[in-house]
Amino acid sequence: MSAQLTANKAVSFSQCKLLYTNAAQLPQVECLQALVSQHGLSLSLSAELITVKLNQKNRELLSAESTQPILLLNDKNKLSWLSGGLSVAPEWDKLQRRVVSAGRKTELLLQAAKIAADSHVIDATAGFGHDSLILASTGARVTMLEQQPLIALLLLEEQQRMSMQPNWQKLMSRLHIINTDALSYFMNVQNMTALDATDDIDVVYLDPMFPEDSYQDSKTGKGAKVGKHMQALHHLASPPTLAQEQQLLQNAQALVSSNVNDSIDVNGDGDKIKHQGRVIVKRPQHAPLLANETPDDSWQNGAVRFDGYFV
Ligand SMILES: C[S@@+](CC[C@H](N)C(=O)[O-])C[C@H]1O[C@@H](n2cnc3c(N)ncnc32)[C@H](O)[C@@H]1O
Repeated sequence: MSAQLTANKAVSFSQCKLLYTNAAQLPQVECLQALVSQHGLSLSLSAELITVKLNQKNRELLSAESTQPILLLNDKNKLSWLSGGLSVAPEWDKLQRRVVSAGRKTELLLQAAKIAADSHVIDATAGFGHDSLILASTGARVTMLEQQPLIALLLLEEQQRMSMQPNWQKLMSRLHIINTDALSYFMNVQNMTALDATDDIDVVYLDPMFPEDSYQDSKTGKGAKVGKHMQALHHLASPPTLAQEQQLLQNAQALVSSNVNDSIDVNGDGDKIKHQGRVIVKRPQHAPLLANETPDDSWQNGAVRFDGYFV
């Protein structure tokens, strides 16, 4: 199934600089080039050894002078994207405590998604993968779709790095990262015949970009501040148009409705109940509804809202 689906990618190759700080890092550089070709990422990496000290001033200069996106391999071999002088990268190890204690009581996302250890979730807008990790902490398999090849490379490299740590290996093996546009992926899955469809999809999770001014309430100014990861993503990806929002939501709903499982162990207590396929949409607390569609249920805290559309 994945071979057919990975074929769907942007056609143009993005040029990207890969800066490394020490000649002994050449094997890591080669590993990254190998990830790009193995996963058919439409990225062309030009590797360059830099000798300047990577203090904040030089990071800002490097960002300002380059016309291409910059990936940086620091002296600890951590890969990040240098965006506007800020280094951003998936930070999965920092989520360890949350992942270990994640459950419906602690994670609003899990209350909304209601998944079980045998669920298959599609995180259609993976970004830095932080929400995917929370979803996968339940034991569920998570297919992560990310349209930007540069972000997909960061995800693949983080998965490879974390897989070397024994306590993360099981969770890492449940993540499947694909560099694709979610809409093309949805359409490919729907076009597959029942015989081809080897796998049911219980939940589709959508966290598309939203306008930078929709994080806070326009009247009260209340709401979440935009973190550095989101600030960086705003340089690369734009919020969907209303028509794209409608397509995303409709196709995601069609996918879960055609794949509703008869029964799964939702509570993890051995009692199997009929599972309700659902699409969960993440929004800033005060942001408008995706595609102006009223959800069946909503879960929110001071910063974020999860809207649930059930089949
Ligand atoms: C708001 S971020 C997601 C953040 C993510 N939930 C996390 O925990 O890090 C949105 C991401 O979805 C990606 N994206 C947006 N539209 C997409 C689409 N149609 N298909 C695949 N990826 C998409 C963007 O490139 C961006 O990386």
